[in-house]
Amino acid sequence: MNNNIVVAIDGFSSCGKSTIAKALAKKLDFVYIDTGAMYRAVTLYFLRNEIDLTNQTQVETALSNIHITFKTKDGQANLFLNDEDVSEEIRQMHVASNVSKVAAIPAVRHAMVKQQQLMGKSINIIMDGRDIGTTVFPEAQVKLFMTADPKIRAERRYKELVVKQPDITMEEVFDNLALRDHDDTTRKESPLVQADDAIVLDNSYLTPDEQLAFALDKITPFIKA
Ligand code: DC
Repeated sequence: MNNNIVVAIDGFSSCGKSTIAKALAKKLDFVYIDTGAMYRAVTLYFLRNEIDLTNQTQVETALSNIHITFKTKDGQANLFLNDEDVSEEIRQMHVASNVSKVAAIPAVRHAMVKQQQLMGKSINIIMDGRDIGTTVFPEAQVKLFMTADPKIRAERRYKELVVKQPDITMEEVFDNLALRDHDDTTRKESPLVQADDAIVLDNSYLTPDEQLAFALDKITPFIKA
């Protein structure tokens, strides 16, 4: 590993990983890389091009045609898929409901991990995902593993979703989160597991400011060293 600092943030869905990652990147002037967005972009490409997920050749050809970059626009890190800004579209339901199948394909994971390792090779980064501290950067100087009470996570997610989907129920949101936790932790390739040397950050009862202070306390010794 070079002299640059890598902060790996892993954890369950809807735990607030990206909120803390963005706040840390801004405070420390590090580059933020949202790896979930990369898997979502691959999913979008596969959907648009009707790629058969069981056809290895089709998957590999598609992967070789996918170029993902992050560009800062209006203070936000936007994701470009082959030079098209797809930051909004990758958050939509058609992508969300297909991404875990795509993220479980070994060839997809290998391609994304390779790109993520290149992105963090020489600059200070905050990278969030599911396998950053275990697979992408096992040598990361700081590893945070975020978790929160499932009921609290579902309540947070419900509040976000109900604005756009007034018919949604709390039960649906809770069940969807439970399913995603199950998929993330049980898939064969790089399942979500806590790295042995990760620091657990349970944010069930912490404010964003308290979480930021906790994380900064762990990271600053490496910056000063
Ligand atoms: O964090 P998110 O909800 O945007 O992630 C989208 C999907 O990608 C989710 O199914 C988990 C998966 N993912 C992954 O398998 N590995 C990562 N490093 C990041 C996300």
